[in-house]
Amino acid sequence: MEATVAITEAQQKKVKPDPETLKFGKTFTDHMFTMDYTSDLGWIQPEIKPYAPVEIDPAAMVFHYSQSVFEGLKAYKNPNGEAVLFRPEENFKRLNRSNKRLSIPPINEELALDYLKQLIELEKDWIPSAEGTSLYIRPFVIATEPSLQVAPAHNYKFFIILSPVGSYYPEGIHPVSIMVEDHFTRAARGGTGTAKTGGNYSAGYNAQAKAASEGHAQVLWLDGVEKKYVEEVGSMNVFFKINGEIVTPQLNDSILQGVTRKSVIELLKHWNIPVSERKIPMQEIFDAYESGELEEAFGSGTAAVISPIGELTWKDSTMIVNGRKTGEVTKSLYQTLTQIQTGKQEDPFGWTV
Ligand code: COI
Repeated sequence: MEATVAITEAQQKKVKPDPETLKFGKTFTDHMFTMDYTSDLGWIQPEIKPYAPVEIDPAAMVFHYSQSVFEGLKAYKNPNGEAVLFRPEENFKRLNRSNKRLSIPPINEELALDYLKQLIELEKDWIPSAEGTSLYIRPFVIATEPSLQVAPAHNYKFFIILSPVGSYYPEGIHPVSIMVEDHFTRAARGGTGTAKTGGNYSAGYNAQAKAASEGHAQVLWLDGVEKKYVEEVGSMNVFFKINGEIVTPQLNDSILQGVTRKSVIELLKHWNIPVSERKIPMQEIFDAYESGELEEAFGSGTAAVISPIGELTWKDSTMIVNGRKTGEVTKSLYQTLTQIQTGKQEDPFGWTV
């Protein structure tokens, strides 16, 4: 049964952007979904309406104490022209885990997916089909109660906005240079690192700027306690191939539970490629490089899907990974995931909806 949503169609439709020149997250579609929360009534008034700025009180708590969470997933068009979502239930599950961490009331995951499907149905002409393009979906929740009290808000707004996007990296899939960050911390033990909340990202900008000023594309984050163990790369989860085995940091409360990360692990197991989730000391990566056993390295995330790492700079050493070329496993993962996501390859896992 379809969940009831009040739909107001836009009178004027926007001109769709040229798929060749699409950037990441710069254009938005004709409609958005919104729903409000009050502590008396719960989540109310689900609506799909024309995409437009919203009026919000300057005292809204989100502006002051950052009580907000977000998600990111993508819709693709399959060869039959149907809209396809990739594991959307995982995103709504994670949204609720983030909500819990940020003291935001949970949403009904099934209803939220149904609302999203209705929004996508209305906007399906916005799903681009050129290679590397998709419709990026950004659900998010903000605290709207006007109050400067340092406490969870009583009122929230849940939005879903949509943006047709090109490749996250304009150069497409190509190995990037990474700087291991040994001063700034992305997430502390017991902090919010595993939640998808804006502050985790903006707190990384200064390290990113430092890396960029030294000619690197991104930073590799180490744990916030000992600065010894690998955690994430940029805004992605990270994987290494060492002597035939793929390793990735085991989840803890400072690592984001990536949907692409989970899919990579499941795909590797399906291919019978050894994969393990464990603590990975940065020293082990360096030693593997020195002994010639560091074979591949890549990041995984919704936005870029798979992003190969071509070199890693740690203190005074630079490690060149696989001659700065995309490795075989990295390439196969990228191809298989994107082919499943776009419905061009059979989905043996039931991931696509
Ligand atoms: C992703 O890899 O999908 C991210 O987390 C980046 C996103 C915040 C744009």
